[in-house]
Amino acid sequence: MTEKILVTGGTGYIGSHTVVELQQAGFRVVIIDDLSNSEISVVDSIEKITGIRPETEVFDLTDAAKTDDFFNRHHNIKASIHFAASKAVGESVEKPLQYYRNNLVSLMNLLECQIKYDIRNIVFSSSCTVYGQPGKLPVTENTPRLEAESPYGNTKRISEDILRDTVKANSGIQAIALRYFNPVGAHPSALIGELPRGVPGNLVPFITQTAAGIREQLSVFGNDYDTPDGSAIRDFINVVDLAKAHVVAIERLLTGRNRTAFEIFNLGTGNGVSVLELLNVFEKVTGVKLNYKIVGRRPGDIEKIWADTSYANLELGWKAEKSLEETLLSAWQWEKAIRGIQ
Ligand code: WQD
Repeated sequence: MTEKILVTGGTGYIGSHTVVELQQAGFRVVIIDDLSNSEISVVDSIEKITGIRPETEVFDLTDAAKTDDFFNRHHNIKASIHFAASKAVGESVEKPLQYYRNNLVSLMNLLECQIKYDIRNIVFSSSCTVYGQPGKLPVTENTPRLEAESPYGNTKRISEDILRDTVKANSGIQAIALRYFNPVGAHPSALIGELPRGVPGNLVPFITQTAAGIREQLSVFGNDYDTPDGSAIRDFINVVDLAKAHVVAIERLLTGRNRTAFEIFNLGTGNGVSVLELLNVFEKVTGVKLNYKIVGRRPGDIEKIWADTSYANLELGWKAEKSLEETLLSAWQWEKAIRGIQ
């Protein structure tokens, strides 16, 4: 199949891994990215992995004129995968207007163009953050969404509503929202991975930077939660497994296997792992002792969440395959590759 797929945010962490999987599944890919949180060199790395250089255009999707011009020049796009968004939870609390503008205007510009140019399919990067702290675990797609803990989380919730209402308005749009749990790890080639700018907000890049000696010490945010070891629990999913799910979602839409015009799937492993458990697994698989201390809880954090993956497993025929051990090792290989550590 040589269908052409647009990947917005395609030089980002999950976007770049998805471009690789799309190309290896035989799709042609065109990337839009504003490089606000990624590097253009990621395109070279993608080409090194797959041997195919994705077309890439650098501009901001909140610019309606530039977005329309792109679609006016790119015919025969069959579907889009929309990753492009600001994603730092803490930053979103400090800069809510920037987050609402960037994340919502870019989605609306994209949808308006897809309707205008009759590109009916979109896969949307959503997040388990829409569930807040669920009352019942594991979380299914029918678990009620709660008030988001951050503007970032709220933009994901509102984006889902924008998709749902656009689909309902007989726009011809068909959408699949994928609610990621915690994406972690890197491509086994160690040529692409997470590239956090500044001090990492997320756990695993902070761990690997601590192991690499870039960060003095890791702070574990709280060990007084109602969990077996007191630290918070998350569902850490390998980024390559996550990327493969996007290919499955695209194929579902292109072959008309979607049951309704707006579908939602949880993408997790189904296993809850605590922060302290994850640290222990990292030390075990890498042989690196981590310097960490327990500090107070981080404001806005939820206590525990993990996915019921049965609906995605059954309906998508997709399942997370990679173990946490393999995943953390890939994160460490990537960190060593970018720091020139043997
Ligand atoms: C995981 C656990 C922290 C850093 C958020 C978003 C989600 C997605 C991923 C964008 C928590 C603890 C962390 C550290 C720590 N968004 N932690 N020390 O907050 O679960 O999810 O990021 O991609 O939508 O909600 O991810 O990795 O920040 O934290 O103890 O230095 O690790 O308290 O319990 P989170 P995270």
